[in-house]
Amino acid sequence: MPQSHRIAVLPGDGIGPEVMDEALKILDAVSRQHGFNVERETFLVGGAAIDATGGPLPADTVKGCEAAEAILFGSVGGPKWESLPPDIQPERGALLPLRKHFGLYANLRPGVCHPNLTHASPVKNELIPNGFNVLCVRELTGGVYFGQPKGREERNGEPVAFDTMIYAKSEIVRIAKVAFEAAMGRDKRLCSVDKANVLATSVLWRETVTEVAKDYPEVTLSHLYVDNAAMQLVRRPDSFDVLVTENLFGDILSDEMAMISGSLGMLPSASLGKSTDGGLNFGLYEPSGGSAPDIAGQGIANPIAQILSLSMLLRYSLGQATAAEAIDAAVEKAIAAGFRTGDIFTGAPGETKVGTSAMGDAILENLPS
Ligand code: IPM
Ligand code: MN
Repeated sequence: MPQSHRIAVLPGDGIGPEVMDEALKILDAVSRQHGFNVERETFLVGGAAIDATGGPLPADTVKGCEAAEAILFGSVGGPKWESLPPDIQPERGALLPLRKHFGLYANLRPGVCHPNLTHASPVKNELIPNGFNVLCVRELTGGVYFGQPKGREERNGEPVAFDTMIYAKSEIVRIAKVAFEAAMGRDKRLCSVDKANVLATSVLWRETVTEVAKDYPEVTLSHLYVDNAAMQLVRRPDSFDVLVTENLFGDILSDEMAMISGSLGMLPSASLGKSTDGGLNFGLYEPSGGSAPDIAGQGIANPIAQILSLSMLLRYSLGQATAAEAIDAAVEKAIAAGFRTGDIFTGAPGETKVGTSAMGDAILENLPS
């Protein structure tokens, strides 16, 4: 009997559905080639869910995700829903509750600039002759995003608003371990980013990460203040291997990394939490870029971020590492062969400009059969 898996598919809004089609096409092929089954059920999320049900995260969607081993997420949001109150807007109203509900505390965001695509990066090309490959490990369920008290009230006749940045040591230990483990599988260099010259949470963060480092003597640990890290990332992105940081800093630095990597259409991400067996293998996988409403429905979006999100899902949640490697290699080959969606096309000799589904086909054809 072939191994059988079950995933929840949440295409969402904008380019989400069209890039999701390409990822599912790849999933059909790799599951056949590698001898496993993936049952998948599609659920509403984001603006599509608001239109159909009144809210961005219907109970049915949450139930469907609970019954699955992993969630393959497209993207949510668009101008149509921008004037709604923040907590029912597609992005915040869907993603934050999903993270909290499933305890997705470890967010892995690779920032990769392919050596063939350095021209697309705004960083001076002589600084990154071989591109770069940084992994940002962002704490995702704590810090100022969720800390209590949070609110707004009247004081001395004027409105005041407040948030609380709070971390328990155990929350720092568990994300630090994820980051050290990731570094062990890479170049064994970890940079922890904080603001320990100002924030009490950061002092605890630095102390704790330093303590966890004792269990990983092979990993070289460094620390940077977040303002300095933001500068160093644009100055010498190729000097980093793995970054680990708290929720808000990670939100900001991972966008910076995405921008300097050249195209938002290339970067996947994984948000991991514990599954019922206790392993860190339940996850939500989504492109780092947004729903790109300006190009939605035109068949020109880059499907690579969604396809690499599928690859991360296979690797981390389904334990199908060989299939994941096959996808990663096929993406590399399609790029090396010159296939380019509009976001990475320069018109240089050897490049072929393709649309969403032709890029999916190029990757499909490069899968080892
Ligand atoms: C992200 C997004 C979210 C965040 C928003 C939509 C709540 O910016 O995933 O980075 O701030 O975490
Ligand atoms: Mn963000």
